[in-house]
Amino acid sequence: MIVKLNGVKKSFPIERGYLKTASGVVNAVDGVSLEIEKAETFGLVGESGCGKTTLGKLILGILKPDAGSIEVGTKKIQVIFQDPQASLDPKMRVYDIVAEGLVLQSSAVRRGGLNLPYGKIAKGQVEEMLDLVKLPKGALNKYPHQFSGGERQRIAIARAVLTDPEFIVCDEPVSSLDVTVQLQILRLLKDVQKKFSITYLFISHDLRVVRFMSDRIAVMKEGKIVEEGPTQKIYSKPDHDYTKLLLDSILNI
Ligand SMILES: Nc1ncnc2c1ncn2[C@@H]1O[C@H](COP(=O)(O)OP(=O)(O)OP(=O)(O)O)[C@@H](O)[C@H]1O
Ligand SMILES: [Mg+2]
Repeated sequence: MIVKLNGVKKSFPIERGYLKTASGVVNAVDGVSLEIEKAETFGLVGESGCGKTTLGKLILGILKPDAGSIEVGTKKIQVIFQDPQASLDPKMRVYDIVAEGLVLQSSAVRRGGLNLPYGKIAKGQVEEMLDLVKLPKGALNKYPHQFSGGERQRIAIARAVLTDPEFIVCDEPVSSLDVTVQLQILRLLKDVQKKFSITYLFISHDLRVVRFMSDRIAVMKEGKIVEEGPTQKIYSKPDHDYTKLLLDSILNI
């Protein structure tokens, strides 16, 4: 077990009107308990606004829960977001973007007195990562806007993986890409996971994408997990009406 949530709640004030006075709350995450096992992909699916990203942010420690407990058994956490355009600094070259995480880590090592020549180490490792995500070496000196959406997501994956993470929160990582590129990125995420035994929390509103990726799936509705189980079971014998509804909606497209 690498992540354990028990009765986690998070609400936000709803602000309305010109004066933006709070007029109630939205229970974005409303009593969620779950466990994520090491090296598995735990899929979190549900419609827009059901609380998926809020749950991801709570696990990442970006948000603090109002109630309940969150245990994360590693400090080596990374995140990959939906929109690589927004998550990559447009003024930085790919080399610096990818190396950033590593340099931050190495400088912590340096403060510890090891004095590693991290500039040299980083270069070789950055090139290796670029190779891993199947981008050409020439990409190193380019800027994010010079790449397609899929290539930008490869850059984001290289940056995350270079820091040797044990756990990655993937929040809608392929939702802004077209279908063929989605499949390439999902395969890359799977390859990287196998190679480095990384645990994923894989968030998506798209049941097909979640099925392709996940060992176990939780279905979220209005801040609550309404059903959870092995992927095969969720798809072949869903218990909850809401899961059935979601499954029907795929078939009816
Ligand atoms: N910082 C915030 N302040 C106020 N309300 C918020 C905040 N973040 C999220 N919410 C609200 O909490 C609810 C859950 O939002 P969240 O972003 O977690 O949903 P989601 O499942 O990730 O949706 P999507 O599929 O569209 O990404 C929504 O009603 C949203 O408006
Ligand atoms: Mg979201």
